[in-house]
Amino acid sequence: MKNIRIEINLEVFDTISDLPSSIQTLMNKAHEARENAYAPYSQFKVGAALQLDTGEIILGNNQENAAYPSGLCAERVAIFHAGATHPNATITTMAISAKSLKNKVTSPVAPCGACRQVLAEYEVKQNAFMAIYFMGESGKIVKSNSIKDLLPLIFDSTFL
Ligand code: THU
Repeated sequence: MKNIRIEINLEVFDTISDLPSSIQTLMNKAHEARENAYAPYSQFKVGAALQLDTGEIILGNNQENAAYPSGLCAERVAIFHAGATHPNATITTMAISAKSLKNKVTSPVAPCGACRQVLAEYEVKQNAFMAIYFMGESGKIVKSNSIKDLLPLIFDSTFL
């Protein structure tokens, strides 16, 4: 028998003003995108902003549906938007912002498991790490340098 210990590395910033200015801009775009989320069922709005190496910023927000599983998270809306419109660009950074209309979200909201799997696919596709910053409506911001720190033991195409 052998034990495996997995180390993950995350950075925590106390406030948005502690972030580099380009990341503050990206996070503010995620806040703006969040406000346009279509979340009538959960009242939980999420925005995502992607920085491309071309200089462009791509946005996404969660899109819900009366048939609940037909909706999609903000992160996947943004990633698929980037994949559809800028298939050869590299996504260098993702900023995620979440807010509930029912209570104030002051803890960082990490992407769900399904979104992590999609982020993993795109990191492999672009063969470059994607930094991920996530936060609630206010409060601390968590930074991961790669999806590998949010999804250890990744399943990717090398298994197929
Ligand atoms: N949601 C996201 O957009 N991203 C996540 O990572 C977690 C959850 C959305 C899905 C749904 O519209 C609402 O938040 C509540 O789960």
